[in-house]
Amino acid sequence: MKALARRILDQYALNPYDSHGLLHWVRVHESGIEIASSSGADRDVVAYFALLHDSRRLNESRDPQHGPRGAEFARLLHKEGLVDLNPTQLQDLITAIAHHNSHDRVEDMDGNSITIGTCWDADRLDLPRVGTTVNPKYLYTQEAKRLANLWNHEDAYFITDDRRKLLKTWGATLPEKNQPF
Ligand SMILES: [Fe+2]
Ligand SMILES: [Fe+2]
Repeated sequence: MKALARRILDQYALNPYDSHGLLHWVRVHESGIEIASSSGADRDVVAYFALLHDSRRLNESRDPQHGPRGAEFARLLHKEGLVDLNPTQLQDLITAIAHHNSHDRVEDMDGNSITIGTCWDADRLDLPRVGTTVNPKYLYTQEAKRLANLWNHEDAYFITDDRRKLLKTWGATLPEKNQPF
């Protein structure tokens, strides 16, 4: 994962510690894996989604094409050997990334909808960081609906030991202060 994270960060256009960067990716990974443990989603796809879905954003506000750009990037990284997924998993990853910021219903997507829905839920659960309350109506899994309540607590944004460890597996360094982000 270190080589992949390095490749992603080297081309990332924004501040990696701003609202769509590394620390958001850590939380998407964490809640995605937690949802997967009950939803049965593919954990490898979820883990790659966390790192890649916002990796091609060009600004911190409105950037409707960042999903499709991220999906294209995921395909390229798979060709480069940095994304180790079989063709079915890769298709789920690409679908999940391409449409994560549009309003397509997960049921309408080709592929494993529980994996795609888990990826989207994990991303949505992190909306309170930008002042948006999570609306359970837009969540696909029961586990995400349960987690949505926890995510609104302010300490949800501290860098915990688990988050620190995950950042380390990506070879990423921490911001100077241990503060909410
Ligand atoms: Fe996004
Ligand atoms: Fe995101």
